[in-house]
Amino acid sequence: MKVFQVQLVQRQQVLQHDNQQSLLENLEQHNIPHEYQCRSGYCGACRTKLLQGKVSYRQPPLAFLQSNEILLCCCQVESDLILDL
Ligand code: FES
Repeated sequence: MKVFQVQLVQRQQVLQHDNQQSLLENLEQHNIPHEYQCRSGYCGACRTKLLQGKVSYRQPPLAFLQSNEILLCCCQVESDLILDL
């Protein structure tokens, strides 16, 4: 299983992420609350700026995303990430 580093620049914190759970769940486990509603790619509430790195989606999300944004509830991490969090 691949483990990625997810750097949260505003918090100056680095989390390990292995895609066994969503990034949103990983943040919550570390007591880092983040906005969410649907938790499945529809609403866009969990939208977050990706500063560096790559994610993918099992199904194209319905929520509108800028090219530098990701959905924490449903993206698959594909590389180490730097997030604007
Ligand atoms: S919580 Fe709705 S898109 Fe992520």
